[in-house]
Amino acid sequence: MTPELDTLLRELEQFGKDNDASASSRQQKMLNITRDTGEFLQWQIRALKARRILEIGTSNGYSTIWLALATQALKGRITSLDILPRKHELARANLERAKLSQWVQFLLADAGEFMRKQFNGEFDFIFLDSERENYVGWWADLRRVLMPGGVIVVDNATSHAAEMQPFANLVRNTPGYLSTLIPIGNGELVILKL
Ligand SMILES: C[S@@+](CC[C@H](N)C(=O)[O-])C[C@H]1O[C@@H](n2cnc3c(N)ncnc32)[C@H](O)[C@@H]1O
Repeated sequence: MTPELDTLLRELEQFGKDNDASASSRQQKMLNITRDTGEFLQWQIRALKARRILEIGTSNGYSTIWLALATQALKGRITSLDILPRKHELARANLERAKLSQWVQFLLADAGEFMRKQFNGEFDFIFLDSERENYVGWWADLRRVLMPGGVIVVDNATSHAAEMQPFANLVRNTPGYLSTLIPIGNGELVILKL
């Protein structure tokens, strides 16, 4: 990573902390992943050589920068979705600043609607970091759009363990998937499609 990118990431980390401490609603919060989670995502994508990435929950693009670092090295492609126009615009600007925008297609879209229109096996890595109450309803399409051998990483598996439990149980009870909890950052549920 260049010193300039490291400086930008640190600026965004501070922005996220300050913004979220003073935000009056959840929609105004950035709710960024932790830096070690970013490193983990980058590592996973590089290790898996995953080139077709889907991110559900862009926010201001902090996690997208980590995904894009790996994607740049592998000459892959990220599709990153958010439903809030302000966050979508912030993310675009931040990826421009990071000089990584060429690797990302940002879409202002509901993830459920988006996935319904995708082909089977369209993605080989999915980072899921959105509203947790949707995950159970999205599971059928998450499975369908993920290619065999693909991986889904889900944030907040320990920070919001009770909210995540119905989804984590559903995954565990679905034949053909192997999942494990990695205690990095807010806890990452890592799901492999066998
Ligand atoms: C936890 S934040 C994402 C943080 C981001 N991954 C990061 O670490 O920088 C969750 C985001 O999901 C978006 N979101 C909520 N519901 C969504 C939906 N149905 N489809 C797409 N995005 C959604 C929210 O607007 C919010 O920006």
